[in-house]
Amino acid sequence: MTNKNTATIYFRDEEKQFHLSNEKISYIFNVSTDGKLLQLYYGKALPEKDYSYLIEMHHRPMTTYRQEHDLLYSLEHLKQDFPEYGTTDFRHPAISLRQQNGSRITDFTYLKHKITDGKPKLNQLPATYVEDNSESKTLIITLKDDLTNVELELSYTIFSDLPIITRSTRVLNKGTQTQAIENIASLSLDLPDANYDWLQLSGAWGRERAIKERALQQGIQSIESTRGISSHQHNPFVALKRKNADEHQGEVIGTAFVYSGNFLIQAEVDTWDVTRLRVGINPFGFEWQLKSNESFTTPEAVLVYSDQGLNGMSQAFHKLFRKRLARGKWRDQERPVLINNWEATYFDFNEDKLVSIAETAHDVGIELFVLDDGWFGERNNDHAGLGDWSVNKQRLPHGIGSLAARIRKIGLKFGLWFEPEMINKDSQLYREHPDWLIHTPQRQDHHGRNQFVLNFSMPAVVDNIFNQMSAIIDESKLDYIKWDMNRPLTDVYDSHLDFSQQGEVFHRYVLGVYRLYDMLTTKYPNVLFESCSSGGGRFDPGLLYYAPQTWTSDDSDAIERLKIQYGTSMLYPISSMGAHVSIIPNHQTNRLTPLETRGNVAFFGSFGYELDLNQLTDKEINVVKSQVSFYKKYRSVLHNGTFYRLLSPFNNDEQTAWMVVSPDKKIAIVAHYKTLNQVNRSYQRLKLKGLNATFEYELDNSMYTGCELMNAGLIITDASSGQINEQNKRPETYDFDSRIWVLTAKEN
Ligand code: DGJ
Repeated sequence: MTNKNTATIYFRDEEKQFHLSNEKISYIFNVSTDGKLLQLYYGKALPEKDYSYLIEMHHRPMTTYRQEHDLLYSLEHLKQDFPEYGTTDFRHPAISLRQQNGSRITDFTYLKHKITDGKPKLNQLPATYVEDNSESKTLIITLKDDLTNVELELSYTIFSDLPIITRSTRVLNKGTQTQAIENIASLSLDLPDANYDWLQLSGAWGRERAIKERALQQGIQSIESTRGISSHQHNPFVALKRKNADEHQGEVIGTAFVYSGNFLIQAEVDTWDVTRLRVGINPFGFEWQLKSNESFTTPEAVLVYSDQGLNGMSQAFHKLFRKRLARGKWRDQERPVLINNWEATYFDFNEDKLVSIAETAHDVGIELFVLDDGWFGERNNDHAGLGDWSVNKQRLPHGIGSLAARIRKIGLKFGLWFEPEMINKDSQLYREHPDWLIHTPQRQDHHGRNQFVLNFSMPAVVDNIFNQMSAIIDESKLDYIKWDMNRPLTDVYDSHLDFSQQGEVFHRYVLGVYRLYDMLTTKYPNVLFESCSSGGGRFDPGLLYYAPQTWTSDDSDAIERLKIQYGTSMLYPISSMGAHVSIIPNHQTNRLTPLETRGNVAFFGSFGYELDLNQLTDKEINVVKSQVSFYKKYRSVLHNGTFYRLLSPFNNDEQTAWMVVSPDKKIAIVAHYKTLNQVNRSYQRLKLKGLNATFEYELDNSMYTGCELMNAGLIITDASSGQINEQNKRPETYDFDSRIWVLTAKEN
C-alpha cells in the first residue's frame, strides 16, 4: 500500500453532494432538500464536479409523493443510499425499527457528517483495516429520526490503492424508549439499471462455492444463511456482472460480507429497472432490542468495482483480504507445509503410529504435523468427548505435551484440532453444565453428528473453553490450531435472555465466537489458525480476520477441487485455501488421480498432505519430495503474486487453467488441468495474463516475450492431438492429467 493518500472525499456544500473517489472509482450521492441520501453514481472514476443533474424526478401515475401539491418528489422513483419503507418507497428498506407503539415508520434525515483519514475499528467485529492513515479516507454521515431520537452513523471508507469501498452502520438510541431493530443493512446501493447477471457461490458439503449465474429480473433475487454459520450452501458474496463481461474484461460489481453468521444479500429490481443491492445480517429470525443510550454496530460490507472483468474484481478482493483483513504474524510469513492425520487414520491412531507418520513427513521435507480429531476426552468415536479439552489417556497415555515434544524432536512443528463451539452429551462438560448447550426449553434437542452447540452468547461458556484451550496450548506449545465447527445451529434459544431478546441469540453467538478467536489470537500471536467447518461451511471474510487460512472443503479429490478452488478464488486469495494431497482411491469420490495432479492442484493453496505417507511406494515418496521442494521454492510467489483464472472448469470443456505472476512479473507459474483425455483433439494455445510484455521469459530452454505468451499463447497441445511432445518427454496423456510451467524472466 502506498504512502500517498489518493483517496478523496469531496463535499460540495452548496449542492450537499458527497463524492468519494480514488484513481479507480467514484461513489457520489446528494443530500436532498428534506435530508434524504440520494444515490447518483457508482462506477469508474469521474472528475469532481456537480452531478446533481443525475437525480431524475418524474411524475408517474398511481404513486405517492413526499410533499403536498408536488407531483415529482417520490422516494419510490429515486435512487437512494439508505432507504426506509413506507414513506413513498415500497421496496425493501435498509432499516426497520419497531417502536413502542408498534409503528415501523421512521424518517431519518441528514444531521451532520465527518471526514477523516484512515479507518476506525468496528466494535467487537472483524473488519478490514489500514496500517497507516494515508491508506484510506472515511466519511461518517449521521442521520437522525427526530421522533424517536435514534441516530444512524453510516460509515464509508474508500481505500487509496484499491477500487474498494467498505460500509457499515451504527444505530444509536439517544431516546428514552427501547427500539426493536428488525432489519439493519450494512450496505444498500441503488444502481440505475438491471442489465446485470447475478453470480453467486453456492453448493453443499463437499461441493462448496460452485459458480451459479442468472440474469437479474424484476423482483427479488437473494442468497442467505439461516444456519447460524455463513454456510456451505451460500457464501456471503455476490457479483453483478455486465452481460458482456467475462474473466478479463467488462464491468463487475462484487460485494462480500465480513461476517460468519446469518446473512442476506439481495438484489431487488423494481418496475423501472433500478437495482437495489442490500447486504447485511439476515432479518429472518433477527431482532435486537436497543435500549436507551445503547448502540448496535453492523458487520462490514465490502464493495468492489472492476472494469477488468471477474479477475479484476478478484484481484482487488485478494489484495484487501491478504493484507488488510488477515492479520498477525502469519499474514506475511510463509505458511508451513503440513501433514494432517485425519484421512490417514481417522480415529484409529496411537502415539507410535502418529510418530512414524511424522518421521516420514520430516524425511520428505514437511514442516508441520497436525493431529486432528480424537486426541481429547473420551473421544473414541464421534459420540463422545467434545467439550473436554484434555488429553485422551487411552490413546495418548503419555499426554499431549509428551507427544508434542516427540514430534518437535523429529524436527516438525506441532498443531492440534479443536472444535471449541461443540459439546457431546457424553462429556464431563455436559455432565457439569447441562444448561450450556443451545436448546429450547421443553422441546426436543436436535443433534448433528451426535453433537450439540454450546451457547457462545454466554461469556462463562467462552471463558471456560478459552481456559481449557489455553492449558493445552501452553502444555504442548502449539504452533498451529485447526478450529473446526461441524454442524449448523438448531433449537436456537437462550434462557438467560428476556423473551423479547430471543432474536439476538444468533448474532450474540457469532460475537462469542469472535471473542474467543480474539482472546486466543491475542494471547498466542505465534499460533497459525486454520478455520474449518466440515470443510468450507464457514469460509468467510469474518473468520479470515482471525485465521489466515481455511480448510477449503472436505472433498480432497483433485478434480473436484478444481471447481471448488476456482469458485473460492472469486474473492478469497489462494493463500487462504487449505489444500492437501490425499490418498487414492479418493475417500470422497473413489477416483484415481495421478499423484502429480493432486500436487498440481494443491499447490494453488496453503499446501499440505492428508494421507499415511508410510503407505506410499518409494517412487511416490520421491514425487512427494519433489512436490514439497517445489512448493517451498515457489510458495512466496504463489501467495504474494497476482492470481489469474484462465480456463474455467465450469465451462464443460474438460479443462481448467490458472496462473500466478510474481509482483515484479519476473516469475509466473502456470497450471493446466485436463479432466478427461480426448482423442484427436484440436491444437491449443493458452493465452497468458499479467506478464510484462517486453520481458523475455525462459521456458524449456527457449525464450519467449511476455507479449507473445499473452497474445499468441503458450502451446498446450499434447499427444491427444496426435503430437508427441518430445521436448517435455511426455508422449502420453491420460485422464486427470495436468501440467505446470514456471516462466522466469531473464535479467537484462
Ligand atoms: C471435519 C473437517 O472438515 C475434517 O477435516 C476433520 O477435521 C473432521 N471434521 C474431524 O472430525
